[in-house]
Amino acid sequence: MGREMKRILVVGGAGYIGSHVCRMIAARGIEPIVFDNLSSGHRHAVKWGPLEVGDIRVQGDIERVLARYKPDAVMHFAACIEVGEGERSPLRFWTNNTGGALNLLNAMATTGVENLVFSSTCAVYGQPEFVPISERQACHPLSVYGRSKRAVEQILSDVANVGGVRCAILRYFNAAGASPDGDIGEEHDPETHLIPNALKAAAGIGPKMKLFGTDYPTRDGTCIRDYVHVLDLADAHLAALDMLKMGERKIVANLGTGDGVSVLEILGAIERITGLTPKYEVCERRPGDAPVLSADTAYAEELLGFNPVRSDIDTIIEDAWRFHRRQWGI
Ligand SMILES: NC(=O)c1ccc[n+]([C@@H]2O[C@H](COP(=O)([O-])OP(=O)(O)OC[C@H]3O[C@@H](n4cnc5c(N)ncnc54)[C@H](O)[C@@H]3O)[C@@H](O)[C@H]2O)c1
Repeated sequence: MGREMKRILVVGGAGYIGSHVCRMIAARGIEPIVFDNLSSGHRHAVKWGPLEVGDIRVQGDIERVLARYKPDAVMHFAACIEVGEGERSPLRFWTNNTGGALNLLNAMATTGVENLVFSSTCAVYGQPEFVPISERQACHPLSVYGRSKRAVEQILSDVANVGGVRCAILRYFNAAGASPDGDIGEEHDPETHLIPNALKAAAGIGPKMKLFGTDYPTRDGTCIRDYVHVLDLADAHLAALDMLKMGERKIVANLGTGDGVSVLEILGAIERITGLTPKYEVCERRPGDAPVLSADTAYAEELLGFNPVRSDIDTIIEDAWRFHRRQWGI
């Protein structure tokens, strides 16, 4: 590894994935500085370093924090993430996801911070030509969300090509799970992700879960997705940063397991693990949902030594359940 790191600025570090990464950064003896506007993140999830409340839509906010802390690197998680909302409010998504990233890059250039790990998504691929999806597949994002992230990838590529930044673009598949001690976990509001909603339905909190489509060309008719434990994702961020420090200029890597799990398989695993049956209603397919999305992980394995040890579905659900039981007081 290059020069030893002292501090990392974690933009969006009060959110789900960012808070788990902060915890891991601190465990490696590096100070995580969180920059967050708390629009969807939580003050109580910032425990391992200072919280600077600010907004990436305001370049001065981010520049001030970069100048103050002079971090060795930035990890950028802040974004609007609810895909359906992006279709209703495209400007909000482009402004926050793409405009915010541009502000961050400009602020990094002004303050001389070089290394960036960026949270991208498998949504940049759109309907894949084939699965598992490798990084070489063409990107045809189908949603405003996916396009707002793909645009950042293209900007990063242009800037990295002229030596303006060293960047790791990490395309997560479905982040899931929680810290094994139940301390932090997934707390989106509204929650649109399957596992927390299915656990809620199993616990009898709120309405029945919606299952979108049972007539897909998959083994049981429901959509198949690639779930990756949030701690495995966190590991990959530190590995990517190590690679940048060793001289890589640009990394683009999928983060998934390669093993897809169907919606019905998730519900079955929840029943097995919690002893409770998630109640659901079958709804129409959602437009744009691909039958199967799973990652070709060969490149992440080779480059980052990525080995998703906690990402089997039982461990993911056990960890998520432990967190939610505590959160819901049950
Ligand atoms: N959760 C997933 O399954 C998943 C999958 C693929 C990609 N991603 C990407 O990973 C990143 C993190 O996702 P998450 O699930 O942790 O989301 P999250 O909503 O829990 O976290 C995002 C954080 O960014 C902050 N934020 C948003 N806009 C901001 C702004 N203008 N200024 C400052 N802070 C701002 C929020 O307050 C929040 O703390 C996102 O970029 C998302 O697109 C997530």
